[in-house]
This record gives sequence, structure tokens and C-alpha cells, in this order.
Amino acid sequence: MVAADRRILALVRAASWVYGAALETPMSLTNFSLGGAPSPSSPVTKVTMPALAEMKRQGKPISALTAYDYATSRLVDEAGIDLVLVGDSLAMVVLGHENTLAITVDEMLHHTRAVRRAVRRALVVADMPFGSYHGTIADGVANAVRFVKEAGAEAVKIEGPRVELVRALTSSEIPVIGHLGLTPQSVHRMGGYRVQARAAEEVLQLRADARALAAAGAGALVLEGIPREAAAAITSELPIPTIGIGAGPDCDGQILVFHDLLNLTFAPTAKFVRRYGDAAALIREAVEHYREDVEHRAFPSDEESYHLPRSSRRNFDSESEDENAVVNQDALQDWDG
Ligand code: KIV
Repeated sequence: MVAADRRILALVRAASWVYGAALETPMSLTNFSLGGAPSPSSPVTKVTMPALAEMKRQGKPISALTAYDYATSRLVDEAGIDLVLVGDSLAMVVLGHENTLAITVDEMLHHTRAVRRAVRRALVVADMPFGSYHGTIADGVANAVRFVKEAGAEAVKIEGPRVELVRALTSSEIPVIGHLGLTPQSVHRMGGYRVQARAAEEVLQLRADARALAAAGAGALVLEGIPREAAAAITSELPIPTIGIGAGPDCDGQILVFHDLLNLTFAPTAKFVRRYGDAAALIREAVEHYREDVEHRAFPSDEESYHLPRSSRRNFDSESEDENAVVNQDALQDWDG
């Protein structure tokens, strides 16, 4: 092998280490040849935690979105989003709770499994729900293990500056993403969903927490609901990627809640949300149209119905005629009698 070939081989090996082994390994947990989707054999470059770090190094923005079920996760993945978060926001946008506190580990596992079955390329991150990592470190690690082992999560996300837990998860081989700033599980302590770190000393504290999480092994950091300037300062000095939500455009990536993006929340949106589509209008219109068609017997049509094969139909018609004749004769006798 000539030196140039060796160099190319080394580069390819390095790239497949960074971007994961999925170039050779089929990632599919389901049959992706159904429904016109890519077949299991079509090559996919799996996004991994190291790949996110590489994206930061290369200045390539990371796109992230929440998703909670098979169909939407599949669409999100096929649209090329890098990171899918099974966020505990599902308590609100899918299950109708007032805040995120009520959702349980079992409920989060159920949704994470569905997402995992759909996603081939994106990094699948499971949000650890309130109460699942607020006790002992051992309990936190045990719950995180369930997300990896039972639901196929590739990383977990935890809120707050829980440095010890991040260290323990990292040494248990569980990639972890931190979450600082407006942390929705702290809604009662914060007294509502308010922008955090508005004072200089709060920004300094936030930066110290971010540094500590990165040093403890966090692979990335979600920064939520903080001033743009604070997010920019943290992003520029942190060795790990930051993913912002309501934290301005200077983070290494952005995340939004799927239902916010598509007008499915039935509530006014926060300032930082941009609506990219109106799924509510689309669904409402389609469902109303369906109801009208049913009410006017315009659905289903003859083309949308199954038919007896010609031979069965002939037999069925003649047998029904015979049966009707017998029934009519009986009725006549009853009448006569
Ligand atoms: O639960 C969630 O949806 C989140 C984010 C949007 C970061 O934590």
C-alpha cells in the first residue's frame, strides 16, 4: 500500500470512529423498508456523542429537537436533525400535565423505546424525569442505566449543577448532557418559568456550574432561558457543545420542543419560539373534512371498498336468492297460518 492510500485509510478509520460504527452496523430496530423509507441497508452516518464534540470543533451548528413517539421521531430523523431528545416536556405537550414534574421513569421509558425504534441517524437522548436522580447518586445511576438498557437511549439529560452525578454517570459509561439556566423541574423554586442569570453574579455562577459539569464529564450542555450574552460567553470558553433554547444564536446548537415548532401546544408561545408550520390547522382541517365525508356518506367510496371475487359473487347472489325464496315462503305460510 502506498503512503497516500495509508493516509486515506487512516482518515476513513478516524472518521468512522468519530461518527460511530453505524457505517457497517445496521442501526434499525424496525423494518425501515416499509412505507418507502430508506432500507436497512442504506448507509447512515450515526450521530454519536463524540460526533457532537467534533461538530463544535468544526464550527458546525448542531440541530436538536424533541420527539416522543415513533411517527414524529421518524420524520424528525429523516429530516436530518442531529439530536432527538425525548424530553420530559412530553408531560405537558403530549400528556396534558400542567408542568413536567408528574411524569415517571416508566412513562419516559415507554416513549424513549418508541423513539429509539424510529431513529436511525440522530443521537437519542432521554430526559431523566423529576425525582429519578434527586436522591442518592446510586439511585440516579440505576435509573439512568434503565434508559440505556431498557429503552436504548444513547445519552441521558439531567437538570441542574449535579456534578457528582455527572461524574458517576460518566464513569458508568453513560453519556450525559447537562441542563442549566431555566430548568423546568425547578419551576416551584424559580416561582415560574422566568429567564435566569440576569445579574452579573448569577452569570458568573452559571459559568462556574457549566465549567464544573464539563470537567465532570458532561458531553454537552443545554442552556435554557438565559440572556444571549451569558450563553455566548459560556459557549466560547467551554470545551463541550452548548445547545440553546431561549439562549440566543451563539450556542453551538439549538433545540426546540416539537409541538412549539408546529403549533400544537394550544398556548401562546414564548419569545424564543419560531413556528415553522401549523400542524394544528392541518390536522383540524383534515379531521373536519373526514367527519363531513362520513356524515354525507362520501367516505368510503366504492374504490375504497373490498369486493367479492366474481365467482364468489355469482355463488353468493344465487344462494342469497334461494335463501330469500325460502324465507319468503316461510313468511307466506306464517301469514296463511
Ligand atoms: O424536556 C424538554 O423538552 C427539554 C428541552 C426542550 C431542552 O428539556
